[in-house]
Amino acid sequence: MPITRHVFDHCRLELNAIIVRLMHKFHPVYLYKLYLLKRKKNLLVNIGCGPYGLDQGWINLDLFPIKNVYLRTDCRKSLPFSDNTCLGIHVEMFLEHLDPKDELPFFLYSCYNVLQKDGILRVVVPDAQKFINAYQSKDWIEMNSISYGLDDWAINFPTKMDALNHVFLQGYEHYGGWDKDRLFNVLSKSGFISIRVVEFGIGDFQNGPIDREYHRPNGLYVEAKK
Ligand SMILES: C[S@@+](CC[C@H](N)C(=O)[O-])C[C@H]1O[C@@H](n2cnc3c(N)ncnc32)[C@H](O)[C@@H]1O
Repeated sequence: MPITRHVFDHCRLELNAIIVRLMHKFHPVYLYKLYLLKRKKNLLVNIGCGPYGLDQGWINLDLFPIKNVYLRTDCRKSLPFSDNTCLGIHVEMFLEHLDPKDELPFFLYSCYNVLQKDGILRVVVPDAQKFINAYQSKDWIEMNSISYGLDDWAINFPTKMDALNHVFLQGYEHYGGWDKDRLFNVLSKSGFISIRVVEFGIGDFQNGPIDREYHRPNGLYVEAKK
């Protein structure tokens, strides 16, 4: 290839993002869905849902046309809701894909705006602390216990530092690692209150959290309120 794989992947993502943003401005179906969403209240929203959006009770957003996605949206740039209309926002394994200087503060600011007072933001990120602990342990047992379904990381990565870089950079799709302090800091800077670490599957959404079992071994689960 004339360019590296990660440059190609970034270009592909940005091209899709441009197309989706244009659809939001001109495509009649998108405009109609936007019109409807802007009039709804008490919404539960799953952002960057991938193919895991529930088919009932949740508005699922993703950049790509995946199963159960209600509206393709470049969530870095805008959220398709009126201010103070969302009860809850679930964001699982998405924050680490945002540029921390520009995209991340704007995304959190957008989440804050669309949430109702006392609305809940639930964020799940790969817990850097768990991976660093596993890195420091003497063998691969701890690393394997928090792996993403890779049975044996020692087979997939020549060293534990390669495994750590895989988690933090993910082929340059991720912008680094996250721990509790970093997450609390950006959330409080964006105006969120009552920020707390929660357990997998436990939280304040009215019908309970929608965490994916897959991320349970290495996820850091945090809830915050507007
Ligand atoms: C690591 S996946 C997480 C998927 C799912 N939330 C999960 O927990 O498995 C990140 C998701 O974010 C989506 N995504 C990436 N950039 C996006 C953007 N700018 N706007 C909306 N979704 C985006 C990707 O398509 C992908 O589905």
